[in-house]
Amino acid sequence: MAYDHHYAVFTSFIALALSACTLTLAMDALQDFCVADLKGSPTINGFACKDPKTVQASDFSFGGLHIPGNTSNAFGSKVTPAFVTQIPGLNTFGISMARVDYARGGINPPHTHPRATEILTVIKGTLEVGFVTSNPENRLVSKVLRKGDVFVFPIGLVHFQRNTGHRNAVAIAALSSQNPGVITVANAVFGSKPDIPTDVLAKAFQVDRSVVQKLQAKF
Ligand SMILES: *[C@@H]1O[C@H](CO)[C@@H](O)[C@H](O)[C@H]1NC(C)=O
Repeated sequence: MAYDHHYAVFTSFIALALSACTLTLAMDALQDFCVADLKGSPTINGFACKDPKTVQASDFSFGGLHIPGNTSNAFGSKVTPAFVTQIPGLNTFGISMARVDYARGGINPPHTHPRATEILTVIKGTLEVGFVTSNPENRLVSKVLRKGDVFVFPIGLVHFQRNTGHRNAVAIAALSSQNPGVITVANAVFGSKPDIPTDVLAKAFQVDRSVVQKLQAKF
C-alpha cells in the first residue's frame, strides 16, 4: 500500500513537472506560436496563449524604436523596451530588444538582467561599457564602443554604459529572454520598500549610518 501511494505521488509529480515544462519551454514547441494573452489567467511562468484564430500581425510587431527616449532625468538615459509586454508574440521565444538613448555624459547605471544575456550595438555616438565578473575576482571588463561596435553582457552580471562622446548616443540591445528583468543596483540596495535596515547596509558597505541614510533618501 505504502509503495503504491508513494509511486502515485511520484508519478503525479513527474506529470506535473512535465506539463510545466511544455507550458514554459520555447524548445520543442507544440505549436507555431503562443501569443501572450496579457490579461489572461491562469498565471503561469510566462503568459497563457491567445486563441490562435484571434492572432494578428500586430501581435508580432512594435512600432516605437525609431523614437528617441526622453533622457531628461538624473541618469541622462532612457531605455525603450520591446519585451513581451510590448510584443505579445514574443511569449515563450526567449528573445527581446530595447533601444537605449544617452544624453551627453549620460549613464545607464550599474544593473543586471536576472534572466538574460544582452548583446548591444552602438548606432550613434561613443559608449564606454563594462561588466563585473562574480566573486571573488570582481574583475571589470570594459571597453569604449563606437558606431557599429557590438558588446556582450553575460547573464546576471552587473553592467553599465556611459556616453563619453560630445553628442547624444543611441544603442540597440537584444536580450535572451522575452522578459529579461532589470535590477538596478542602487535602487535595489538603497531604494527597497521597505528599506533594508540601515545598520545592515552600514556594515555591508563599511561606512557610517549617515552615509547610508543619505543614499536611502536619494533612492
Ligand atoms: C522629458 O521629461 C521631462 C522630465 O520628466 C519633462 O519635463 C519633459 O517635458 C519631457 N520632454 C518631452 C519631450 O516629453
